[in-house]
Amino acid sequence: MAQGKLIDGKQIAAELRQELKSEVATIAIRGVTPGLTVVLVGNNMASETYVRGKIRACEEVGIRSDLIRLPEETEEDTLLAEIDRLNQDETVHGILVQLPLPRQISEEKVIARIRPKKDVDGFHPINMGKLATGLKGAFLPCTPHGILQMLKRSHIEIAGKHAVVVGRSNIVGKPVSLLLQKENATVTMCHSRTKDLAYFTRQADILVAAVGKYGLITRDHVRPGAVVIDVGMNRSPEGKLAGDVMFEEVREVASHITPVPGGVGPMTIAMLLYNTVEAAKAALD
Ligand code: GUN
Repeated sequence: MAQGKLIDGKQIAAELRQELKSEVATIAIRGVTPGLTVVLVGNNMASETYVRGKIRACEEVGIRSDLIRLPEETEEDTLLAEIDRLNQDETVHGILVQLPLPRQISEEKVIARIRPKKDVDGFHPINMGKLATGLKGAFLPCTPHGILQMLKRSHIEIAGKHAVVVGRSNIVGKPVSLLLQKENATVTMCHSRTKDLAYFTRQADILVAAVGKYGLITRDHVRPGAVVIDVGMNRSPEGKLAGDVMFEEVREVASHITPVPGGVGPMTIAMLLYNTVEAAKAALD
């Protein structure tokens, strides 16, 4: 049976980290060590895993990282005050508040409180607005930027192609659709209320699945020769980590496909490091 080529996010992310490592060394000559502060509120197991990965990656490239842990019952004002403090701290170039937050805290308010220049997640309305309007100098959200890097470094042409994005979240679906448009793709957005999803996804040259639903994209959803990017992070019924795409069967029709794990995930972290280094470089000027 034919098999699509694997887009190895783990490998591409490792290359990126090597590049960043030498950038960090160059900045160090000017007396600055890039610094990222991660704020983790509560005891979400998945967040614990993600944060551990981010901290480890920082260490590898020479970015100083601090983890601030706050208890589940933290009040919104306490977190906002912590952000104010980090906004003022010149040794902190990037601030990342791990989501989701406990119910009593407004994610919107917290994101808006981070100085846009330190918003290495790219979630602040100023950065999102810059991306939407094409203004320069925005931090790009890490997962969408990572997807773009994967496509580019795998020499996949984007201009003139039909990209279909499934999922309209602020973190992935919306921004990745904007980035693909910027790269001159024709973009179709699908979401939970789309009728006959397969009708749309079968037209995709590039299919991005970013819903968070195990088994959503089957072989019948994919046109032979399509490039399939799987952003999902789910558990299969057998308890294994899996994306939104039925990997084995879709691989038989796709020209390229990203695995889960080892696809988009490592790229997200690499782009977080990239944004942190950019933030530190901007602080040098
Ligand atoms: N939770 C899941 N993904 C992300 C992310 O990219 N950034 C933050 N801050 N929280 C997340």
